[in-house]
Amino acid sequence: MSDAARIAVLASGGGSNFQALVDRFRPVADREIVGVIASREGAGVLERARRAGVASAVPPAGAAVAPAGAAGGEMTTFLLRTLDEWRSDIVVLAGYMKLVPEPLVRAYRGRILNIHPALLPSFGGRGMYGARVHRAVIEAGVRITGATVHFVDEAYDRGPILCQWPVPVLAGDTPEAVAARVLAVEHRILPAAVEALASGAVRLEAERRVRWVREWFDTETFTNREG
Ligand code: GAR
Repeated sequence: MSDAARIAVLASGGGSNFQALVDRFRPVADREIVGVIASREGAGVLERARRAGVASAVPPAGAAVAPAGAAGGEMTTFLLRTLDEWRSDIVVLAGYMKLVPEPLVRAYRGRILNIHPALLPSFGGRGMYGARVHRAVIEAGVRITGATVHFVDEAYDRGPILCQWPVPVLAGDTPEAVAARVLAVEHRILPAAVEALASGAVRLEAERRVRWVREWFDTETFTNREG
């Protein structure tokens, strides 16, 4: 992928990662956050979208998801149609707590990213989201957690990893303290990863291989070396 990129976001919560994307790309001529799909009415991300002047959409209440392997389903149709209307090139799951329907994964394979608040493949999978992740991290006694951006495939948190960044777990930490420390890193790593994909610095190849086309990610500053 290269040139102009139209970036759509899926989110369920407060939307601080959505905000980080808006802040990063608003000043960039050929990057546009074209819209956010919130998984429910009342999600904080919708208010952020309104303030930023970004389009938003919410699936019809009770929209059914087709069973795995089956085509269609009201939810799938809604998501695909909305992303298509926005002419989305890249889809970003920024705190999206639902499983992405398979047809959407297929339609956007290699162009759909997720941010997870831990170092995958640890502390991921079904039921591992938000505060539960950080609670599990503390209970396991690990001293390092972090943030992961990965390509989305058909299973929760399993897709090929694009980039990660570590965060220490400190003595006496609460899940809230770890969450805040990790979130600050998410706000830097997610826009960086999206820019890498949009600019063609990284791509998904066959056999789940992630290829960095050129050295791009500055591990000291989280910035694009090309400026
Ligand atoms: C973030 O920490 C994100 O990594 C996490 O939800 C939070 C959303 O915060 N996502 C998951 O746990 C997905 N498994 P935000 O709404 O402020 O961006």
